[in-house]
Amino acid sequence: MPGNPFRPSFGTSPRVLAGRAGLLDEFDVALDEGPGSPMRSILISGPRGMGKTVVLNELEDRARTRGWHVVRLPEGPGMVEETEQSLLPGLLARVDPAAEQRRVTGGGIHAVGSISTEIDHAYPHTQSLTAMLARLATLAAERGTGVLLTLDEVQSVEVAEVSRLASAYQHLLRDDHEIAFVGAGLPVGIATLLKQRGTTFLRRAERLQLGPLDEAEVADAAVRTVRAAGRVISPEAVRLLVRIAHGYPYLLQLVGYHAWRAAGTDEVITERDVERTREVVVDRMSRLVHTPALLDVPPGQLDYLHAMAQDDGPSATGLVAERLGVSRQHANVVRTRLIARELIAPVGHGLVDVALPYLREHLRRVGE
Ligand SMILES: Nc1ncnc2c1ncn2[C@@H]1O[C@H](COP(=O)(O)OP(=O)(O)O)[C@@H](O)[C@H]1O
Ligand SMILES: [Mg+2]
Repeated sequence: MPGNPFRPSFGTSPRVLAGRAGLLDEFDVALDEGPGSPMRSILISGPRGMGKTVVLNELEDRARTRGWHVVRLPEGPGMVEETEQSLLPGLLARVDPAAEQRRVTGGGIHAVGSISTEIDHAYPHTQSLTAMLARLATLAAERGTGVLLTLDEVQSVEVAEVSRLASAYQHLLRDDHEIAFVGAGLPVGIATLLKQRGTTFLRRAERLQLGPLDEAEVADAAVRTVRAAGRVISPEAVRLLVRIAHGYPYLLQLVGYHAWRAAGTDEVITERDVERTREVVVDRMSRLVHTPALLDVPPGQLDYLHAMAQDDGPSATGLVAERLGVSRQHANVVRTRLIARELIAPVGHGLVDVALPYLREHLRRVGE
């Protein structure tokens, strides 16, 4: 049996990309348009599993294809320091002809000098983030390209560090350098960041809420993934997979993975194979998506979610307020916060629905 082509894990790019073409093409255009193009500064928000990291990888590929330098900034604490002290010096030592020369002379003196010593020679740590990025952008411009900075898990970086990055970026923008930035993170983290002073450029960045894929995109990707790996999936099986996945990229991979396994040595993946994935789907979503997503949600908002979970479909906001025994105004405030968290979404006048597949089941399961 050929290897399972589905990748149900976070941060791994799929064999076959579903959808996202519009966004990727817009970014391509922005890279061609030159400095000042709005889509050159993008902040992507979305829940875990919606495909933020995958989009980031794809955008990086688009930039690389155009010969751009891609600088993926380190996640978590120490982002600026690591960028300034090792990431950029290392990159510049490789691409800067001036560094090359100094390396040659340096090599003559210290014949057995390690690479890192040589890099130290060429790019002493005293150079600022802005100076190094400007140098990189200047080198890129000489070749008719630019520099793309990316930052995943934006919410894991200290606000003060993002501010430093923002000010360096701002500086380069002002000087009309060929530079672009794409950040991705959880909705709350992005919102918090935008409220801070010193992150002005982020406020001007294009904000994209990464949403679900549409049914045709999921179906097409499922069929192509299976086919490229040497098997077949029946049309009924595809339809059921689409229904279970709810446009959620992680679920496309998860359902595909388990259906592939359930098919055993058969050449065809059937509807029954897909049907058998339901239990594992709800379980994995609970543990890997919903539990972490609800971890820091305040009690009042959790109560609101539980009150919604009594409904089998969208909830009437008035009714939710009634169930909670609170005023409509108060319920509205809570609702707005949950919408900002991208946990629920308005779906028509006076109606809201949970924004993550199987969140309702999860809430019912964990109880009050
Ligand atoms: N456009 C897509 N097409 C197919 N699979 C995708 C797509 N986007 C994400 N995935 C899959 O979904 C899972 C989660 O994607 P990831 O980018 O890690 O999500 P996030 O960064 O938002 O948490 C991974 O298994 C990935 O392969
Ligand atoms: Mg991610």
